[in-house]
Amino acid sequence: MRILVTGTTGEVGRRFVPRLLRRAGADGSVRVLVRDAARAEPSARLGAEVALGDLRDPSDVREAVAGVDAVVNIAAAFRGVPDDEAWAVNQDAALRLARAAAEAGARRFVQVSTNLVYGAGLGRPATEDDEPAPGTAGWGAYPASKREAERGLLALHAEGGMDVRVARLAFVYGEGDPHLAQSLRWAGRWAAHQRLHMVHHADVAQGLLRVLFAAGPGGRIWNIADDAPVTAVELHLVNGAELPGGMAARPLPDPWEGIVSTLRIRDELGFRPLYPSVWTARDAGVL
Ligand SMILES: NC(=O)c1ccc[n+]([C@@H]2O[C@H](COP(=O)([O-])OP(=O)(O)OC[C@H]3O[C@@H](n4cnc5c(N)ncnc54)[C@H](OP(=O)(O)O)[C@@H]3O)[C@@H](O)[C@H]2O)c1
Repeated sequence: MRILVTGTTGEVGRRFVPRLLRRAGADGSVRVLVRDAARAEPSARLGAEVALGDLRDPSDVREAVAGVDAVVNIAAAFRGVPDDEAWAVNQDAALRLARAAAEAGARRFVQVSTNLVYGAGLGRPATEDDEPAPGTAGWGAYPASKREAERGLLALHAEGGMDVRVARLAFVYGEGDPHLAQSLRWAGRWAAHQRLHMVHHADVAQGLLRVLFAAGPGGRIWNIADDAPVTAVELHLVNGAELPGGMAARPLPDPWEGIVSTLRIRDELGFRPLYPSVWTARDAGVL
């Protein structure tokens, strides 16, 4: 299978590509789409083919998808970008990429999405069958643009144009990703017992590989997360940071916000987190 991967200069993509290459074979069967050729070198050294281009440019996208059988769309714009860029990359470009891939003969499309598409107030972990209600608090257009991308891609699947699979990731950390430390920017304002659902990069890759290579017709969504969400207090402890004063007295309107069920990916795809909690990852030395 020839596989195009986007977003490979980012935190998730750069850690996924080596694992995909180990699985798919370092024989040019993996192509990465990057905006800056120099930043593709780590992937190229491992045997990936490099396509240069911007996802918002239709001709770059047409060239990138030529001859591929499957696409893993990891790229997204959400770290401090204006809302129009978030919509352009997360929704418009994702749909254009899938349509171009289908026209070029690709048959499978894995869309990397986020648990931020779920709203609050469920009173339990969110399942893939819950109707998404993406909020905007602190995230701008990111959650809504990812949700609309999912909707458009699943519609393409329903029309028979592509086998689309959606993977909704929890908060990703590990292997030197500064994300874990950055969590204190907002967890410092949380109630002491508010929890963050997380997933280690090794388990993101495990989950994405299972989603990509699973048999079946697709048109399905899977949550990818670990087994043990941690509280704001634990986030401070694992980061070696002092607890902010007054944390314990803060109210917590919804103790289930951001918490997802992983029953589907466990039961259907055999997913078992290598790092069931951030503490396991800490003890293994893979933070
Ligand atoms: N990190 C998390 O905790 C988390 C949680 C849930 C879901 N996710 C999902 O995981 C995916 C990856 O997240 P991440 O943390 O790795 O993000 P990231 O570090 O910000 O990486 C984003 C990637 O997208 C690429 N990109 C952005 N705009 C592009 C464009 N116009 N054309 C081509 N490439 C473009 C970036 O390329 P440049 O390097 O050229 O900018 C980069 O490779 C996203 O889909 C995100 O929604 C992440």
